[in-house]
Amino acid sequence: MMKKLRTVVLLSGSGTTLQNLIDKMEAGDLPIEIALVISSRNDAYGLERARNHKIPARAISRKSFPSWEAFNQELAKTVDEIEPDLIVLAGFMLLFRPDSKYYGRIMNVHPALIPSFCGKGLYGHHVHEAVIASGVKISGATVHFVDEQYDTGPIILQKAVDVLDDDTPDSLAERVQEAEREIYPQAIRLFAENRLRIEGKRVKICTDRKRCSTIMQIIAVIM
Ligand code: GAR
Repeated sequence: MMKKLRTVVLLSGSGTTLQNLIDKMEAGDLPIEIALVISSRNDAYGLERARNHKIPARAISRKSFPSWEAFNQELAKTVDEIEPDLIVLAGFMLLFRPDSKYYGRIMNVHPALIPSFCGKGLYGHHVHEAVIASGVKISGATVHFVDEQYDTGPIILQKAVDVLDDDTPDSLAERVQEAEREIYPQAIRLFAENRLRIEGKRVKICTDRKRCSTIMQIIAVIM
């Protein structure tokens, strides 16, 4: 049986992304155990969702800190205490910069096809409003590793959805989130199976698990 990844989930809002992961996890479809859910807002419904499933949850409110740096420091310390294998951003609307030892182990889902419609100020509903205003015919969901900036880390998976003539930000969000619910667990599974290789900006997905782990063993020996 595959080892379950000790996971910390960071969120800021309603937590439908978290709920999807919990449902998959409880169905035995996702090899993770969620050790802690952290919210950047005291009133995020995601905290309640976690507690409903007996998952430890706490708020580290951005508003309680004088600066982003102080907030980030507290967040990084709390995450570090858990010693997670994986950090999952699930609708976390602020910049998070953990210790560099976590690079390659932090994932985010963004509700557009990166590098379009992303970056500071483009999150949640703002993204879908901007997509519709631009007239593009396609949007989608992106799962990527997190680096030091907003939405610039190596892309793991993307799924496109059509933007329809009569779409509103709400109707588009619904379709994009359906894509998110599919590709986020998929990306986490690939990570758990040790099948993701970051090579510069590109994330390669090993198709042959046996060969993949042999190559990694050779690399480990060389290094
Ligand atoms: C999701 O659509 C996610 O892609 C987006 O916020 C929503 C969270 O929903 N995240 C971002 O925009 C991050 N840049 P939820 O709170 O119901 O999980």
